[in-house]
Amino acid sequence: MKIIKLKTNEEVTKYLAELLLQQIESNPKSVLGLATGSTPTLAYHQLVKKYLVDQTDFSQVITFNLDEYIGIEPENKNSYRSFMNENLFNYININQENTFLPSTDDQNYAKYDDLIKEYGGIDLQILGIGENGHIGFNEPGTKESTLTHKVTLAENTRENNSIFFDSLEDVPKEAVTMGITSILNAKKIILAATKSNKAEIIKRLINNDISENLPASFLKKHPNVIILVDEDSGKYIEEMI
Ligand code: F6R
Repeated sequence: MKIIKLKTNEEVTKYLAELLLQQIESNPKSVLGLATGSTPTLAYHQLVKKYLVDQTDFSQVITFNLDEYIGIEPENKNSYRSFMNENLFNYININQENTFLPSTDDQNYAKYDDLIKEYGGIDLQILGIGENGHIGFNEPGTKESTLTHKVTLAENTRENNSIFFDSLEDVPKEAVTMGITSILNAKKIILAATKSNKAEIIKRLINNDISENLPASFLKKHPNVIILVDEDSGKYIEEMI
């Protein structure tokens, strides 16, 4: 894992956007693995800006999101489909038919991995990290062998995500997420963490051995991972570039 420590949240999101743009420039047909949540939001807005100002072309880009809630319709403002439409897809020239999220209808969740394979696999996967070490919605205890599957969300995850909902009761209890193996199949991975509530888990991720109790630790098995932190989330670790 290569660790890059920048000063501010803004610098992290600009850097993240830059890595995504480099990927698209090097291959306009790139397959991107995308995350939702507060960490990548500003990076997505940077991409919109690049489209509007520099006419960056997203017309051939393919995207696969990590996860989707069970029990809320795609049209609902809190679905991850709506999140992606509102923060990125609606404002760039991506072909909506090339934007995928895990299906919550069909019980054969791992079909999503077959679809990713059909498109040649993910070139660049973006990840955030939960305070409990989750990646995607792979909560502590998730096995390395998992493909896309249904999960019960940890209470801490529901509490953290309740900022996007009217109340905690409205936060779904279940979701479908790409598994650990689905994520490790990506060619390159960038995990971004900002703000001080991520400092403790980033310290554990860097210092601890690989374990199911800390799902993000499985990233140590991957040859091409960047961990991108700001001074708040990286306050317990040294700069290593
Ligand atoms: C989102 C996802 C989650 C988030 C993580 C961090 O698609 O899979 O793993 O990346 O919960 O969320 P934020 O960025 O809101 O702190």
